[in-house]
Amino acid sequence: MSFPERFSVLPEYPFARLNGLLRKRRPGGEVIDLSVGNPRHAFPDWISEAIADESAGLGTYPPTMGTPELLCAISGWIERRYSVDVNPDREILILNGTREGLFNACLWLVPESENGQVPCVLIPNPFYQVYAGGVVAAGAEPVYVPAVKETGYLPDYASLSQDILDRTSLAFLCSPSNPQGAVASAEYLAQLLSLAEHHGFRILADECYSEIYRTVPPPGILEVAAAHKVKRESVVAFHSLSKRSNLPGLRSGFLVSGRKTVKWMKTLREYSAPSMPGPLQKASALAWGDELHVEENRLRYCRKFDVADRIFGDLEGYRSPEGGFFLWLSVGNGESAALKLWSDYGVRVLPGEYLGREVNGSNPGRGYIRVALVADEPELEAGLGKIRKFIGEQGAVVS
Ligand SMILES: Cc1ncc(COP(=O)(O)O)c(C=O)c1O
Repeated sequence: MSFPERFSVLPEYPFARLNGLLRKRRPGGEVIDLSVGNPRHAFPDWISEAIADESAGLGTYPPTMGTPELLCAISGWIERRYSVDVNPDREILILNGTREGLFNACLWLVPESENGQVPCVLIPNPFYQVYAGGVVAAGAEPVYVPAVKETGYLPDYASLSQDILDRTSLAFLCSPSNPQGAVASAEYLAQLLSLAEHHGFRILADECYSEIYRTVPPPGILEVAAAHKVKRESVVAFHSLSKRSNLPGLRSGFLVSGRKTVKWMKTLREYSAPSMPGPLQKASALAWGDELHVEENRLRYCRKFDVADRIFGDLEGYRSPEGGFFLWLSVGNGESAALKLWSDYGVRVLPGEYLGREVNGSNPGRGYIRVALVADEPELEAGLGKIRKFIGEQGAVVS
C-alpha cells in the first residue's frame, strides 16, 4: 500500500470531528470550552525573560541534539525524580514536543517484519490519537486493547494471544493516562516489562502527564526497569514541558532509551526533524531545573479535582482521576451527550468514542465524554455544574 493510502484508515482527527458535530447546532448559553486539553495556567515569567535574553541565538543554527546545558538539566531532573542515572549525551534525545517522538518512534523502530509477519503495535483503547498515526505510517498493524473499567482503565496486554505478542514490535502505554486519568502502578509496569522482555518488544511509555497527580508521584518506566534490571533498550520514556510547566507552545520534550536505540534514533532525527531553536533550549533547561512552578501548577490542578469531586462525588460510580487533567465521565451515549451539552448549555466536551476505535463491534469510549480541567476555576466550576445538571436531567448512569 502506498504511503498516502495507508492513512485512509485513520478517521478524522477528534477535534475536527467535534467541530463537524457541533456545527449543526447553536450553543445554548455562553460557551465554556472543556474539550481541548490545552494547559491554561500561566507559565513562569523567567521563561519569557530567558527567551528574550537569548534571542541572539536565533542568528545561528542550534545544535539538533540539544545543548549540553539542556541535556544536563534533563538528566538532572530524571535523577531527582526517578533516582535513575541517565547519560545525557547517549541516552537522551531532544524532541520538539513528545508528539513528534511518539509518531516518529514508530517509523524508526518498527521493523519490516516480525517473525516473518506484519509487525503489530499495541495501543490502549481509547488513546492519544497520534499513536495510531505513527503505527499506520510505519505500515504496522495497530492492535487496540481495551483500557476500561474491568481492566483498571489500563490495557491488559498479557491477555493477548501468543500470535499477536510474538509479532509485536512496540506497545504504547500512557500513565497517567489520557483520557481516563489512570496511573500504572510499579507492579503493573514490572509485569509489562517482563511481558515485553519475554516477547521481545519495546514499551513506548508516554509519561507526559507524570507531574500532574494528587499526592503520590506516579512511578516511571525508567525507575521500574532499573529496579528489575530490565535493559534500557526495551523502553522508550517520553516527557514534556507542555503539561508540567504549562508550555505547550514551546514544543519541548525528550525521550530516554538505551544507547543503541538512542544512537539509531539520533541518526534518523538528524535527517528528518527540525532543531529546537537556541533560545527555547535555554528556556527548557531552566524549566527542567525548577520544581517550584511545577508544584504550584499541580496544586492548581488538585483544587480543580476537588471542585470536580464536590460536583460529581455523589454520583454512583463517579471516578476521580488519579492523574492527568481529564474527567472521563460515563453518560450513556457520549456523542449525543456532547451535542446536548452544547445545544442546551453551551458546554463543549469531547465524545469519548472519538478517542477510541471500534473493535468487534464495540468502541470502549462510546459511553463517555472527556472533560478537560483546564479552564480557570470559576469557568470550570460553571461548566462542571452544567454537566452535573445535564446528567441529573438525563438520569444518565455514571459508572
Ligand atoms: C497523552 C498525550 N501524549 C502526548 C501529547 C503531546 O504532548 P506534547 O507534544 O505537547 O509534548 C499529548 C498532548 O495533548 C497527550 O495528551
